[in-house]
Amino acid sequence: MIGIIDILCIFILLLHSSSSSPNVTNDRNTPHPPTGLCLEKLGNSSYLCMVPHPDGSNRVFVCNQQGKIWLATAPEVGSSHSQPLMVDESDPFLDLSGQVQFATEMGLTSIALHPNFTQNGRLFVVFNCDKFQQPGCEGRCSCNTDVGCDPSKVESLPESYPCQFHVVIAEFTANGTTRSSKLSWTGHANLVEVRRIFTMGLPFEPYHAGQILFGPSDGYLYVMIGDASHVADLYNFAQNKKSLLGKILRLDVDIIPSEEEISRLGLWGNYSIPKDNPYVNDKDFGPEIWALGFSNPWRCSFDSDRPSRFICGDVGKDQYEEINIIKKGGNYGWRVFEGPYLTHPSYAPGGYTQPTAITTIFPVTGYRHDNINIDASKGPASIVGGYFYRADADPCLNAWYIYTDLYSYDIWTAIETTETSENLTGFSVPFGCAHDSPMECGFKSGANNVPDLGYVLSFSEDNNKDVYLLTSSGVYRVAAPSRCGYHCATERYSNVTRVASSGNLLEIASLGACFISFMAVIFL
Ligand SMILES: *[C@@H]1O[C@H](CO)[C@@H](O)[C@H](O)[C@H]1NC(C)=O
Ligand SMILES: *[C@@H]1O[C@H](CO)[C@@H](O)[C@H](O)[C@H]1NC(C)=O
Ligand SMILES: *[C@@H]1O[C@H](CO)[C@@H](O)[C@H](O)[C@H]1NC(C)=O
Ligand SMILES: *[C@@H]1O[C@H](CO)[C@@H](O)[C@H](O)[C@H]1NC(C)=O
Ligand SMILES: *[C@@H]1O[C@H](CO)[C@@H](O)[C@H](O)[C@H]1NC(C)=O
Ligand SMILES: *[C@@H]1O[C@H](CO)[C@@H](O)[C@H](O)[C@H]1NC(C)=O
Repeated sequence: MIGIIDILCIFILLLHSSSSSPNVTNDRNTPHPPTGLCLEKLGNSSYLCMVPHPDGSNRVFVCNQQGKIWLATAPEVGSSHSQPLMVDESDPFLDLSGQVQFATEMGLTSIALHPNFTQNGRLFVVFNCDKFQQPGCEGRCSCNTDVGCDPSKVESLPESYPCQFHVVIAEFTANGTTRSSKLSWTGHANLVEVRRIFTMGLPFEPYHAGQILFGPSDGYLYVMIGDASHVADLYNFAQNKKSLLGKILRLDVDIIPSEEEISRLGLWGNYSIPKDNPYVNDKDFGPEIWALGFSNPWRCSFDSDRPSRFICGDVGKDQYEEINIIKKGGNYGWRVFEGPYLTHPSYAPGGYTQPTAITTIFPVTGYRHDNINIDASKGPASIVGGYFYRADADPCLNAWYIYTDLYSYDIWTAIETTETSENLTGFSVPFGCAHDSPMECGFKSGANNVPDLGYVLSFSEDNNKDVYLLTSSGVYRVAAPSRCGYHCATERYSNVTRVASSGNLLEIASLGACFISFMAVIFL
């Protein structure tokens, strides 16, 4: 039996070396996408966010849209008997569901832990609330005279009022709860809010994004806010220099200004303005603004190998979904452009910005709606930005940016055509479920061996840089390609060797991998 597999392995190796294998780092001009993306299913709950514990461990905080946050433990990559994500859902780290307005595009959308969380226990949460339902929810309306918008004239959705709903950033603390050592917070956050960092009334319910991230090099809080419109940004908020809608903001949450300073600068809460924000000296601009011209920046990340590379998916309206590399002070064009296309809505009470009046930074990649809809009709599309893959599990994915679309059944990987071109070429990659996945993936009916992920809502990256997909059907992690029968020449079978205690195990492991790729050749 072993002899047969050995022969098969030699045959398979020959087969693989004679076909062109992916070699992304050395052949960027004609990049070869990975043969496939292997996923292991680690959980069956639907989360909207996951952030690694800053203590460097394999613990992660997960949150759901309804308003609960849990502390969970991700299993070691490739443990011999893989475990699912360990989380006790009956025991949340913080439960804000009483304060959170939960609806299709409303809820708890993001959390961020202070870079010094292990010392100071500071935790930041973004959520939506309804001023008629949740006490303490009301703040200034983003439709106001400063931005040329009159709330009494806004045609809001039939069931809501302009600025009934708000986006807030609230600070909580994990202080005063159990602490087993200086570097490991356990237990729970204090349910009593420490301070309200930011409060802004939304003119309309959808498209308000709502993600926060601490910059890895500067420690400032980046805040992603959409144009908050139900049709193509009628009020032209994304180009309005005073409006914080359709923007990425950058706030300093370490220096809390006095109430006098907050009102003098017209700030939206308890934060200060970093001195090197791009528009601090331009009175026409909100000083919080880091970049502008976004529609609904849904999921941004910093490349963990190149922290200066800040990349976002920006959801479009009818035509185009885009990926942008974010630059200080950059204008990303919405609603003058939707991706590469000029837009000109016939009804625009907020007026128009002329294309020649701005310097637009165009997307680094993206796709037209009619390219992802099977019948080539313009169906819904909603991009979900991901991560530049930097983990060890799949070396063939290294440096590829992974992203997807809520409504399509594609996962794309894109790579820069040259190291610094800021021009990404994207490919749809096949994906599968690891044969030894800790939880069964379940398969899409009618499709052969395509795992049923449900809707992919967000991505995440842990302290090992492993990448996760957070979907309506659960939590999935990118695994070694061989576990799905995909070939990657540079894979070192690290999944098995890490737990191997003898040389024999290693040999069995590589035979196993060969056998799996043999099965794959037969069945795929
Ligand atoms: C892959 O990269 C290595 C290292 O530079 C190079 O020697 C090899 O020729 C490349 N292989 C292919 C198939 O491009
Ligand atoms: C989800 O997974 C847990 C084990 O982690 C299991 O007990 C539970 O029944 C699963 N729920 C569903 C709906 O599959
Ligand atoms: C974080 O902690 C380090 C060391 O204790 C300190 O030097 C640094 O100023 C802190 N940073 C912030 C933003 O609090
Ligand atoms: C948490 O505790 C640390 C150490 O005692 C202290 O420096 C810090 O200010 C506290 N943070 C909050 C938010 O209370
Ligand atoms: C600052 O935080 C305090 C405590 O949460 C809150 O009462 C106050 O309203 C906040 N100020 C602003 C301008 O949001
Ligand atoms: C990006 O690269 C593609 C393929 O090489 C090329 O066709 C396109 O013009 C480039 N775009 C930009 C903006 O340089």
